[in-house]
Amino acid sequence: MDTHRLHSSGLLLVVLAVAVAVTTEAKLVPNFYSKTCPSAERIIADVVSQKQLSQPTTAAGVLRVFFHDCFVSGCDASVLVAPSAFARSERDAAQSQSLPGDAFEAVTRAKTALELECPGVVSCADVLAIAARDLVTMTGGPFYPLRLGRKDALASSPAAPDAELPLANSTVPRLIAMFAAKGFTDQDLVALSGAHTLGFAHCSEFADRIFRRTKGGGGAAPHDPTMNPAYAKGLQDACKNYLRDPTVAVFNDIMTPGKFDNMYFVNLQRGLGLLSTDQELWTDPRTRPLVQRYAANQTAFFADFARAIVKLSVQGVKTGRDGEVRRRCDMFNGNPVPRG
Ligand code: HEM
Ligand SMILES: *[C@@H]1O[C@H](CO)[C@@H](O)[C@H](O)[C@H]1NC(C)=O
Ligand SMILES: *[C@@H]1O[C@H](CO)[C@@H](O)[C@H](O)[C@H]1NC(C)=O
Repeated sequence: MDTHRLHSSGLLLVVLAVAVAVTTEAKLVPNFYSKTCPSAERIIADVVSQKQLSQPTTAAGVLRVFFHDCFVSGCDASVLVAPSAFARSERDAAQSQSLPGDAFEAVTRAKTALELECPGVVSCADVLAIAARDLVTMTGGPFYPLRLGRKDALASSPAAPDAELPLANSTVPRLIAMFAAKGFTDQDLVALSGAHTLGFAHCSEFADRIFRRTKGGGGAAPHDPTMNPAYAKGLQDACKNYLRDPTVAVFNDIMTPGKFDNMYFVNLQRGLGLLSTDQELWTDPRTRPLVQRYAANQTAFFADFARAIVKLSVQGVKTGRDGEVRRRCDMFNGNPVPRG
C-alpha cells in the first residue's frame, strides 16, 4: 500500500476544498437567470420604475436599504427580514428605524411579480441589487452590469446594523477605517458617499450642527462653522420643531435633490453638506482631492461610483447552501406561518 500517494491525494482534496471556498463569490454570473427566469431583470425594472414614478422618494430609499444590506453581513437580504413574534431582526436596530417603507414596498412588489412568473427562483438579495441599480440609472446616474446568483440569508441579527454601520457624526478617520475593514479604499468611500445626491435626512441626524450653544458668549456662529451661514439658517428654520415632530426631514442635496448627479460634491465645496460625515469629506485632506475631482467631473464620479457600488454589491454574498431563495423577502422560508 502506497501511503505516500494516499497522503498526497488527501492533501489535494484539501487544496481543492480551499479553492472552492475562496471562489464562491465567482459563482455570481451576469446571466444567472437566463434559463430559469429570463424575464427577471425586465420584470424588476418595470415594477420599480412604476413605483418610482408614483413615489419619487423610492430611489433614494432603495439605494440606502441596499447599502445597509451589503454593509451589514453581506448583500443577502438580511435587512429585509421583518421582526416576528418569534425573533427580532436587523429591522429592530436603531440604525434601521429611518429606512423608508417605500423601499421595502418596491422590493415586495417586484418579488410578487417574479413569484408569479417563476416561483422560488430569484433571490431577494438579487432583487434588491437590481432594483437599486435600476433606480440609480432612472434618476440620471450610471448604469452598471451586475453579476447575479446571491442567496438570501438564513439569519438577521438585531445587533449587527448598529455595530457595522457608520453614524452621521462619525469622523472621517473612523469612516476610512470602517470602509477599509471591508476592503473599500478612500476613493470608494467618497464615490459611494455621492449617493447622498438623492434623498432625505431627518433633523435629528444633523441637529448638533445647527443648534449649538456658544460657550462664553464669544460671538461664534451658533452652528457648525464649516456650514454655509445662510444654509445653516434655513436648516434651523426647517428643523425648529424637530423634537416635537421627529418626522421632519430635508433634502441631502439641496440643489438637485431628485437627480443622481455630482451636485453633492459641488455643494460640499460651498459648505452645503448636510451631515457632518458629508461636509468632513471636504475638510479632511485625504478625501478633499476626491471631492474636488468629482465636483469638477461628473464622468469621473459616475465611473468611480459604478466601480465602487459593483464592489459593494458582492460584499459577503452567500451562494450554494449558505443561503436560500426566500419565497417572501420579509420572512425566512423556515418560519412558521403567522397566525391571524
Ligand atoms: C459614509 C457613511 C454614511 C453615513 C454616515 C450615512 C448616513 C446616512 C444618514 C444619517 C441618512 C439619513 C437617514 C434619515 O434620516 O432618514 C442617510 C441617507 C441616505 N443614505 Fe447614507 N450614509 C452613508 C453612506 C451611504 C452610502 C454608501 C449609500 C449608498 C451607496 C448611502 C445612501 C443613502 C441614501 C440614498 C440616503 C437617502 C435615503 C432616503 O431619502 O430615504 N449612504 N445616510
Ligand atoms: C453621535 O450620534 C449618536 C447617535 O446619533 C450619539 O449617541 C453619539 O453620542 C454621537 N457622538 C458624538 C461624538 O457626538
Ligand atoms: C473626466 O474624467 C474622465 C474619466 O476619468 C476622463 O476621461 C476625462 O478626461 C475627464 N474630463 C476632464 C475635463 O478632465
